[in-house]
Amino acid sequence: MLDALERKIEQFINELNDETTQKLYAQIPAGKRLRAALILKIAPHTLSSIKLAAIVELIHAASLLHDDVIDDAFMRRNKPSINASFGNKTAIMLGDILYSKGFYELCSIDTKVAQIISNAVTQLSLGEQADVVLSKKFNASKHDYMKMIYQKTASLIEASSEAAALLANKDRVVYRNYGRAIGMAFQIIDDILDITASSKQLGKPAMSDFVEGKTTLPYIYLYEALQENERSKLLSYHGKKLKEQQLAWIEAKFKEHGIIERCIHEAKALALEATLMMQQEGNESLQKIAQDMVDRDF
Ligand code: IPE
Ligand code: IPE
Ligand code: MG
Ligand code: MG
Ligand code: MG
Repeated sequence: MLDALERKIEQFINELNDETTQKLYAQIPAGKRLRAALILKIAPHTLSSIKLAAIVELIHAASLLHDDVIDDAFMRRNKPSINASFGNKTAIMLGDILYSKGFYELCSIDTKVAQIISNAVTQLSLGEQADVVLSKKFNASKHDYMKMIYQKTASLIEASSEAAALLANKDRVVYRNYGRAIGMAFQIIDDILDITASSKQLGKPAMSDFVEGKTTLPYIYLYEALQENERSKLLSYHGKKLKEQQLAWIEAKFKEHGIIERCIHEAKALALEATLMMQQEGNESLQKIAQDMVDRDF
């Protein structure tokens, strides 16, 4: 399965017929290929499903190229990011090339599939924009955070699942709901790992969200749990490069209030919801994907 996927991605890149792009793309290591795996577990392996999986991985790669520019992140998949090695202009253009090749190829699959995926990319972009806006000040609203992560991350996973169901003549609504639940769980875990894992483990910078101004779910819950004077302290740390001692204070407060456990519990509840949906469908490998989304350390 994965062999055919990698060959399809390679074919798409070669069809661009541009040496600079081919060389640059070769600098990007493959990621976990979660979205492609999801599609190929839902739909039988046909030319359309393999194309769809390859397109979604190109789109995902494009979103990461832009995301690393937006987040000033210099490491991705255990290597210097494209913006770190070649600058923002190159990262942005390579992202645009991958997005537009993806859209071009989508047109040859099915109109409805193309609409589902391209709409998700609009949502993803709106979500990335909302992330930037929200990070300008300390966001204490869980509602705004949940909407933003739905848009930037869950929407593409939801769409991948729904589009694959469409190709497979399966119940679109069930698979869309499943994709949304695992997508939300996935981003909550990504935001937890930023705090609990090392950069080496993640292959991307750790402990960088709060410095970038992002008040992810753990920070929102921490804010709620703190006393008034402690809240002011946390607010004064927002969006700054922090000293060891300041980081240690945040860590101690996370521990004191059981914040990380609470967030993990919330992600697990979403994964369980998704697992139950697939239990009803009698699909074991998709139950496992839902569990893997939360039981991961990178
Ligand atoms: C990273 O996604 C971006 C988020 C939505 C959190 P992945 O963790 O799936 O990235 P790769 O493709 O495996 O590197
Ligand atoms: C997800 O957000 C990025 C996209 C949906 C493109 P993050 O900014 O948290 O992703 P990472 O942590 O850099 O992979
Ligand atoms: Mg990022
Ligand atoms: Mg980001
Ligand atoms: Mg992250």
